[in-house]
Amino acid sequence: MCGIVGITADPLITGNIIPQLIDSLKRLEYRGYDSAGFAFIECGADKLLVLKDKGKIDSVVKRHRVGSKCGTTGIAHTRWATHGPPSQRNAHPHADCRGEIAVAHNGIIKNFAELRELLTAKGHRFTSDTDTEVIAHLFEEYISKGMSGFDAFKKVISLIEGTYAIVLIHLGEPTRIYFARHVSPLIIGVGEGFNAVSSDIPSLLPLTRRIIVVRDGEYGYIEPYRIHIEYEGAKAEWRSRIRLVTWSIESAEKGGYPHFMFKEIMEQPRALYETYNGLLSAAAEVDKAASIISSADHIFVTGAGTSYHAGLVFAYYMSTITRLPVIPFIASEYKAYEGLGGRRAVLIAISQSGETIDTLQALRAFKARGTRIVSISNVIDSTIPRESHQAIYTRAGPEIGVAATKTFLTQILALTLLSISTAFTLGTIDSREKEDMINELEKAGKYAAKGIETSIRRIETLTDVLKNKTNMYILGRGLGVPLAYEAALKVKEVSYIHAEAYPAGESKHGPIALIEEDYPVIFIGASPSKEYIEKLQGNVMEMKSRGAFTILIGHDAYNGIKGLDYFVSVGNPSELLAPYAITPPLQLLAYKLAVSLGRDPDKPRNLAKTVTVE
Ligand code: G6P
Repeated sequence: MCGIVGITADPLITGNIIPQLIDSLKRLEYRGYDSAGFAFIECGADKLLVLKDKGKIDSVVKRHRVGSKCGTTGIAHTRWATHGPPSQRNAHPHADCRGEIAVAHNGIIKNFAELRELLTAKGHRFTSDTDTEVIAHLFEEYISKGMSGFDAFKKVISLIEGTYAIVLIHLGEPTRIYFARHVSPLIIGVGEGFNAVSSDIPSLLPLTRRIIVVRDGEYGYIEPYRIHIEYEGAKAEWRSRIRLVTWSIESAEKGGYPHFMFKEIMEQPRALYETYNGLLSAAAEVDKAASIISSADHIFVTGAGTSYHAGLVFAYYMSTITRLPVIPFIASEYKAYEGLGGRRAVLIAISQSGETIDTLQALRAFKARGTRIVSISNVIDSTIPRESHQAIYTRAGPEIGVAATKTFLTQILALTLLSISTAFTLGTIDSREKEDMINELEKAGKYAAKGIETSIRRIETLTDVLKNKTNMYILGRGLGVPLAYEAALKVKEVSYIHAEAYPAGESKHGPIALIEEDYPVIFIGASPSKEYIEKLQGNVMEMKSRGAFTILIGHDAYNGIKGLDYFVSVGNPSELLAPYAITPPLQLLAYKLAVSLGRDPDKPRNLAKTVTVE
């Protein structure tokens, strides 16, 4: 969703903060890019300047010559429009009537209409259609009544309803940035001679590695030498909450790659290697989660988008390795499971960001019924792992591209280790089998590299064939089904070509009606077993005989099946290693389709990396 950032610095130490503010905001651009804006206290002047416009950050910065300005305390915002279409007037930050207060907000203020009416009746003039603007006017209202800045801010927070991460600056207190968090993510970057707030960690990496995650319901302010956090009127201790982030600055930069998506696909071997080693050295995390799962009589798994697909892969391995049924559901559908869960159940919540609102709401609803929660996340201390009974962290490093790539495979790796550990705890496999499987998984990174290496040329040629198509099917069986769902999601997200995934056997029950001459159908050959190969062979023939252009991406064992127009080998992975070899070529296909069609794969239209509105 939107990205917000604020920096306040001692000018004697850091000088002008505008270059940092622009840089930090650009690192948040993946969260929304409909419009962008800056508000800051000008160096040496008793003035608050607001510069904002429609469009991506670079063009707004250029149009308003933001880089030529000087500021000491500032906030900035990149917008994913919810209330009011993208335009200059609706771009954040929003100011009060006198232009002395500026606010940037990520989230939705549900009761903004009534507050706006009330404020208008009191004479406030609104200049945008947004829900956010009420915050600036409310603050103005209480300041004009003589309240102190912090009291006014607390009053504002007590009146607004909805979800929010807010940053607010005020000319009357030129070194202070107020902040508040309810659901939408917010972190504080702890500096020397400066402090910062932001929607996420990567945006502050060039400034500081010392991070505090602001918790739900917390609010306060930062100044260059002061951090003050409160929760429900009581001061919160924050020093013990400082985390040293190990992500490098390079990991949050393109490093010579044309796009983050490409870089993140290519760095999967390393991400898998680091996740594998990290989880083996933190085996207690996985074992504790496994013991929670082993004692449950119902196992649910949830997530949104790509994370949900990782959940489906988990359900597959839980059924084939652990021999336990798992109930997967899409996080936003949690209401349909209202009567379920409870003390004897476990919910596995998967979220790379740890902040997706649908997944968080599902977690909270299940937890309220006594369900034990295990979570898989890539972001330390984010809300979902913090609210879980046991968190397992992937070590993918920051993922900037909006479409999830490396976090998908690292989630699968963590979930597979969890399935193995659960199978062992329950006695479904013995210690020897457990060890063999864990040793096999060590090759996940190697197979990801091999999958890319053996397929890259063929994927390039395939891109030329597919780039002018408007539709395609992606079909698989068994483990190939969730991998097909994920591949179709990637193609749709970044190339805007309509791709639909189906279990191959089910394609006869409807989808086949659309097949005509040259309609592309991609089959995924995930399992090298004879039965799967024979069955998929049948599905290929059904499509081929109706004129489809048939492609198979998968295990070498599928080479030579009849009726194929195009075959892409990913080597010969076992079923345990198949996701790592098969997924990267499919991600590359989506990426190359996007680039060849002139799309920006890092910032697909209408999408956001972390969705914090229901
Ligand atoms: C958004 C992103 C997807 C992501 C999904 C879930 O839709 O665009 O790439 O898979 O959210 O995100 P999470 O952080 O919960 O894994």
